[in-house]
Amino acid sequence: MAEYKQWRNEDRTFLKDVIPLDTPYNLKVEVSSLCNARCVYCAHSKPNHGVYEGNMSLELMDRILSDSKEFPRKYKVMEMFSFGESMCNPNLEQMISMAKEAEVADKINFTTNGLLINKERADKLIASGVDIIRISLQGLDAPAYKKTCGIKVDFDRFVDNLKYLFDNRGNISVRMKIADIAIDDVPDGEKKFNEIFGPIADSIFIEKIIPMYADIDYNTIDGEIYEKAINGRENVKQKEIHTVCNRPFYRFRVAADGKVTAACCDIPNDFYFGNIYEDSLVNIWNSEKRKQLLRMQLEGKRFMHPICKQCTIPNDITTEADILDPWAKELLKKL
Ligand SMILES: C[S@@+](CC[C@H](N)C(=O)[O-])C[C@H]1O[C@@H](n2cnc3c(N)ncnc32)[C@H](O)[C@@H]1O
Repeated sequence: MAEYKQWRNEDRTFLKDVIPLDTPYNLKVEVSSLCNARCVYCAHSKPNHGVYEGNMSLELMDRILSDSKEFPRKYKVMEMFSFGESMCNPNLEQMISMAKEAEVADKINFTTNGLLINKERADKLIASGVDIIRISLQGLDAPAYKKTCGIKVDFDRFVDNLKYLFDNRGNISVRMKIADIAIDDVPDGEKKFNEIFGPIADSIFIEKIIPMYADIDYNTIDGEIYEKAINGRENVKQKEIHTVCNRPFYRFRVAADGKVTAACCDIPNDFYFGNIYEDSLVNIWNSEKRKQLLRMQLEGKRFMHPICKQCTIPNDITTEADILDPWAKELLKKL
């Protein structure tokens, strides 16, 4: 039976002690920005989300890997997904194998809605060398999937395919979570979730859906959503929304079209630092444009920015090690 556990490790480095980092801890590679679902809480549910939609090419992946070797260290994790559904890209498994072979990251993972997992794709994933597969669940039956992500799902077959992946996973860690809004109104929802998915995952948990994308009216999804977001992760009780967003200090993203951006909920890529076709990843990581974003955070100006001001991600932290507010002035001197 699966352990009940958040996806992120709780054994985290105190960011205040290590920034500015010479190498990102986390590189997010947007293997695909296409999505086969329209989850009501995600920016993909909006037709005009403003993002380039397409699959990353193998050539771009190759460029990312050769640039990655110029960093002084390996990434702690290379995440083979971002805004879209990576399994929409038929080359996902090949890209994971390329990344594994390049030895640029301690671990390789990706997050998926799992809807495109069938026995053939599961076999390919198992052979790819991926370390962790994280599956985002949206309901406990087909009508719930229709309601939360607007699509028709053969639920029994879906669960069967996930079971096949789990039974044949070898050394891969298969982790699952369900959105809280998908089980809140279901009698014995948590129990049913455990019964269906507990036996076919290494770990499971219930994810709090939080207001993170501009243009989505989260109050229509759940009337208490803003209130719940203030308290972030269960193990970190907070009194107020944090000023400094920690994510751009250790995360970095290459979008499917080669744009290099902050790996956050900035869907239209307004935090655009450069393009991998025009400059190297190391140069872009150390660029003035990225430093400007870090300074904005440390100077407490997040609430003046159109994207950052409504985002509750800065409170979605895993442990106290992610909090930067008390050290903002000191850290500013280091940039
Ligand atoms: C944007 S999706 C992309 C990966 C993949 N398509 C999937 O569904 O897992 C990445 C993750 O963000 C989560 N997510 C998206 N919007 C969210 C929100 N407002 N609050 C909490 N999690 C959210 C999804 O549930 C998913 O686990």
